[in-house]
Amino acid sequence: MRAMEWIDRLNRDGTLPDGALLELISARHGLSGTEREYLYLLARKKSTAVFGHDIYLRGLIEFTNHCRNNCRYCGIRRDNGALHRYRLTDAEILSCTDEGYALGLRTFVLQGGEDAYDTDGRICRIVSEIRKRHPDCAVTLSIGEKSRESYRRYFEAGAERYLLRHETADAGHYSYLHPEEMSMEHRMNCLYELKEIGFQIGAGFMVGSPGQTDACYVKDFRFLQELGPHMIGIGPFVPHHATPFADCAAGTLEDTLFFLALLRLYFPKALIPATTALGTIHPRGRELGVLAGANVIMPNLSPGAVRKDYLLYDGKICVDDEAGQCRDCIGSRMHSIGYRTVAARGDYPGFFGKPDGLPAGENPESETGKRCMVSEQQEEIN
Ligand code: 5AD
Ligand code: FES
Repeated sequence: MRAMEWIDRLNRDGTLPDGALLELISARHGLSGTEREYLYLLARKKSTAVFGHDIYLRGLIEFTNHCRNNCRYCGIRRDNGALHRYRLTDAEILSCTDEGYALGLRTFVLQGGEDAYDTDGRICRIVSEIRKRHPDCAVTLSIGEKSRESYRRYFEAGAERYLLRHETADAGHYSYLHPEEMSMEHRMNCLYELKEIGFQIGAGFMVGSPGQTDACYVKDFRFLQELGPHMIGIGPFVPHHATPFADCAAGTLEDTLFFLALLRLYFPKALIPATTALGTIHPRGRELGVLAGANVIMPNLSPGAVRKDYLLYDGKICVDDEAGQCRDCIGSRMHSIGYRTVAARGDYPGFFGKPDGLPAGENPESETGKRCMVSEQQEEIN
């Protein structure tokens, strides 16, 4: 079958022509169990060649569910009037990071809706306080589309990474998923700006979202190749009852694993999480994600009282757990498949940040400004 030839070629070359990629994607439902396992094996090998069996952790703090946006798939959209809205205080956020630090986490992801209350001043204050308390930790922001000036301020305050999924690289699909006032160009432009400023950036998309076609995925891969993100987050679309897509089918485990594996073959050095959404649609979703090439997991550090209110989709796991439980749970899950979670920042391999006045990027020659390398001594914390 041609699909297997394309898989071997992708494994060898790290890319495929558009036509071949489309053919492979369209053939995915016809792959046998053995063929799928073969694809996952190749992806897993690519991942272990760069990262070994180390799994990086990102402590997720969902600090506000207020959102001015109205994305049609998302449970915290503006029009969801039934949702209890919350926002954590600075002190509450810092106590999450302190707790996470004690659990061995060395990256904190501040994620929230696009909340007008979050002035640049507040974000910068929180970021710099976290960096001051935990200088060996990275701070990642995931707070949506902002101006270049705001991004620059966050970077200067000490945030080094930014997650902003592009959601889809097909303009028609983008407008199907989003309200009129949002534009794909603007979102993509934010990603380019973030990269220029010097952030390690994360893009990504949902698998099986309403209106998505095989051709949409091809565009996603092309866009990602052009952008060159350091992190790529994908997870299945899961319907939320209070959205226009309430009755749509969820993305499948098989599709998500297939695209995770393809991403790993395309982007051997990228930090790719096995997402909570994947853990939601299958009890061992995150383990299977790692076995298909993912190398990051994001345990939830949000305070118990607000977890059930940060519901982007129905059925989300861990809403009744505490930070320590999630951390331990993930440690033993990874252990069960022969991987180990490590207490390390887990930067993009070879990423040296932004030397003064120079554009950020990969610079294998430079020893100055060296951040965290995969090869550094890492403490196992399973
Ligand atoms: N199902 C799965 N993922 C979702 N996201 C938002 N809503 C859903 C949903 N219903 C994803 C989006 C967003 C990220 C934070 O969560 O891709 O960028
Ligand atoms: Fe939260 Fe398993 S990761 S309980």
